[in-house]
Amino acid sequence: MAVQARVEELRFPMHGDARGQLIALEAMSDAVPFEVKRVYYIFDTTPGTIRGNHAHKDLRQILICISGACTISCETPDGAQSEHRLDWPDRALLIDGLVWRQMKDFSKDAVLLVLASGHYSEDDYIRDYASFRDAARIAMQQEVSE
Ligand code: TYD
Repeated sequence: MAVQARVEELRFPMHGDARGQLIALEAMSDAVPFEVKRVYYIFDTTPGTIRGNHAHKDLRQILICISGACTISCETPDGAQSEHRLDWPDRALLIDGLVWRQMKDFSKDAVLLVLASGHYSEDDYIRDYASFRDAARIAMQQEVSE
């Protein structure tokens, strides 16, 4: 089994005309490659807050800052780190599987919309960084031995 971890920047097509912009997202499409089982949004964020600080064992999410801006930083099991500034509603980030993530640098007007492939389950969270690195090491070893 390959390490199920992927971070990918997405750009959604906009239906713009003289009236303004519209973006439509459908589950199980190129834009959203999973069934959406949950939607949540983060807003009114206290300045300087860093949210997240966790990984999921088995969850796909798409993050869209539909107002304002914020930055998502990610670390995959191989240790690769990346930062992604979401500052327009057609930009999104797909986070799939075992990825340590932080959400930070929220603008005052930021509304971060998240589409998730699963219902909320505390059992799916890894909230401790050392435990994430342990799980990442095991996943990488499994990948090599297969
Ligand atoms: P938390 O996991 O701290 O948010 P983040 O990791 O994005 O900073 O979640 C804050 C609270 O909201 C916590 O009590 C769990 C609850 N919650 C739900 O009930 N359902 C959800 O889908 C999410 C994401 C959180």
